[in-house]
Amino acid sequence: MDWGMRNRLSRFIKADTGRCLMLAVDHGYFLGPTRKLENPKKTIAPLIEHADALMPTRGVLRNCVDPAHNTPIVLRVSGGTSVLKEDLSDEAITTTMEEAVRMNVSAVALSIFVGSEHEKQTLISLSKLVSEGERYGIPVLAVTAVGKDMARDVRYLALASRIASELGAHVVKTYYCDDFEKLTESCPVPVVIAGGKALETPLDVFEMTYNAVTRGAVGVDMGRNIWQSDQPVAMIRSVRKIVHETAKPEEALDFFETLVAEQP
Ligand code: R5P
Repeated sequence: MDWGMRNRLSRFIKADTGRCLMLAVDHGYFLGPTRKLENPKKTIAPLIEHADALMPTRGVLRNCVDPAHNTPIVLRVSGGTSVLKEDLSDEAITTTMEEAVRMNVSAVALSIFVGSEHEKQTLISLSKLVSEGERYGIPVLAVTAVGKDMARDVRYLALASRIASELGAHVVKTYYCDDFEKLTESCPVPVVIAGGKALETPLDVFEMTYNAVTRGAVGVDMGRNIWQSDQPVAMIRSVRKIVHETAKPEEALDFFETLVAEQP
């Protein structure tokens, strides 16, 4: 792997712990003004300093993130569908590698839809993006998007993750599932998990994060479970404690409650 590629990866997968906490704020690219991300600037401002990387689209990056901020950017570069359509898999690349370089990003991200109607199109997009990324030293993160009919089980997610890595993805983002270690053991590149829909309690989020990192994930690329929380800053700081210190879920909950109690 080229020096530039390794350098960019190490900007967000931290060398001291080998782990990463990415804050996902790209939801608007097909969901529009998602709850508590209606005003991305406001949502991002108190959280960005606690994240190892931020994952926005180019529109949110340019309009809602101060360029003087030094948090690495993992730029969402696929899209072309909206939640109003039945089939979300009809995605293409929406931002060129040249533009990603101009915005000084640390990685680019796209979704692949394995098993969906547009499987091939999204896998070819991944392959082409990797080839361009290799040319410029920009890592590619592949998100194993789950179609409405797909089971979120290890059989499906391990298949999609492995295919992403075989086509050259440098990092894979997928969902936590039972027998998760089977997925991480069969995927030769770093794996991060999405948070998915907001879970019922903070402890549920801490348990999922702990289980993921102790079963082989290098961390999380989490959105709604952080910024849809009533206590987003305490939430991101507590998830961070698990990701980088392997704090147990109960320890993270104590930490969370202390942070909440200390608030004015
Ligand atoms: C989904 O398509 C987006 O890439 C989200 O960024 C991703 O699912 C992570 O966000 P959340 O933790 O809210 O699932």
